[in-house]
Amino acid sequence: MSLLRTKPINADLTADTGLKRCLTAFDLTFLGIGAIIGAGIFVLTGIAAATAAGPSITLSFVIAGVACTCAALAYAELAAAIGGCGSAYGYAYAGLGELLAWIIGWDLILEYGVATPVVAIGWSGYANNALTAVGLGLPDSLLYAPTNSPIAGIINLPAFSIILFLAILLSIGVRESSRFNNVIVLIKLLAIGIFIAVATFHLNPSNWTPFMPFGWGGTMAGAALIFFAYIGFDAVSTAAEEAVNPQRDLPIGIIASLVICTVIYIIVAGLLTGVVPYHTLNVASPVADVMLRLNQHWVAAVISAGAIAGLTTVMLVLYYGLTRIFLAMSRDGLLPPLFATVNSHTRTPIRIILISGLLMAMIAGLMPIQSVAELVNIGTLAAFVMVCAGVIMLRYSHPELPRPFRVPFGILLPSLGIVTCLYLMFSLPGITWLRLFVWLAIGLIVYFSYSRQHSSLANR
Ligand code: ALA
Repeated sequence: MSLLRTKPINADLTADTGLKRCLTAFDLTFLGIGAIIGAGIFVLTGIAAATAAGPSITLSFVIAGVACTCAALAYAELAAAIGGCGSAYGYAYAGLGELLAWIIGWDLILEYGVATPVVAIGWSGYANNALTAVGLGLPDSLLYAPTNSPIAGIINLPAFSIILFLAILLSIGVRESSRFNNVIVLIKLLAIGIFIAVATFHLNPSNWTPFMPFGWGGTMAGAALIFFAYIGFDAVSTAAEEAVNPQRDLPIGIIASLVICTVIYIIVAGLLTGVVPYHTLNVASPVADVMLRLNQHWVAAVISAGAIAGLTTVMLVLYYGLTRIFLAMSRDGLLPPLFATVNSHTRTPIRIILISGLLMAMIAGLMPIQSVAELVNIGTLAAFVMVCAGVIMLRYSHPELPRPFRVPFGILLPSLGIVTCLYLMFSLPGITWLRLFVWLAIGLIVYFSYSRQHSSLANR
């Protein structure tokens, strides 16, 4: 039955695929931190604490962290055993068949393709604050998309421009993009380190009571919202064909970046809610705002710079992931072959980078898409469920497959990953589910009208 056709697993994970192999374990870990720390901690934590979880936002981070740790271990096993720049799409193709692979690939396009413009819009707000501070603030007409809302403009110019800038950077080469990422990640880690140091001295533990003002439901709603803060470690797996030693270094990059960020998140969330009352955190830039309230103006400035830096690398890595998934899907014939070429000089998929960059820049500049941000969470959670399921399926269907990294305790952790990710998915609003189904329905139309007939595997 053609829908269940699975792709043979390529045993040589270091074969030349045209992309340049130059990323080390350090680069991969920084790639993960680059994608993970961003709007989630700098913006959403305050909103989630004030409106959903209260001080138990720390617990929300632990719960979402458990789901992500299970998923990260599953990603690590499959990235080291199967590889390929298609990430969960490629693993599903090997373990679960073409149709499910298509669905997950289509879902990942949604995750990365929506997250990048959403983050660009947040970046634009922070960047304009910085420009205003030096007297160069932009007028509203160049800060807002043309919408029917009370504040409408012509274009969100900073959001549009930052994506085009990243398109150029990614086209030049992955080595250059990774160096840029490493420097910027250091800046954001420094900013967070300064916040932790200063906030520790202003801690007032009485702010932690009541711990769960909105009950368990609030803590879970908070977890479903701040799950966004963890998204990104999965993008490390799309670098499989650019890693020097993928079998050893991908598991290191995926797990190390997640562990580092989880520890940072729990500390920052605990400090934020311990320094000021949780209900005052519903502001656009809570981390910087708390420092302003403590009269630490220079720390607030450093944190804003860290946030701008943080959001830049989130976009860079998610955009990078998007292009690699496009590449994998078009190499398999499921998307037009136009996307499948790698430039022989820069060794990057320039066509995909430029076409998707232009599309995302237009979305970020001209459309009001913040409201669909939750789609990113549900799409990513669905991918995590599939990857955990993929580990279990492949343990049975391909027990002989060499696994340089194995998730410990048999299928216990992947099963826990499925349950926790599904639980988080069901904590999201119904409208988000509806939007996901609409996106998947469009995907199925594309699959049955184009991809199925053009699949390289079917035509072989
Ligand atoms: N984890 C990323 C962020 O928080 C997507 O911005």
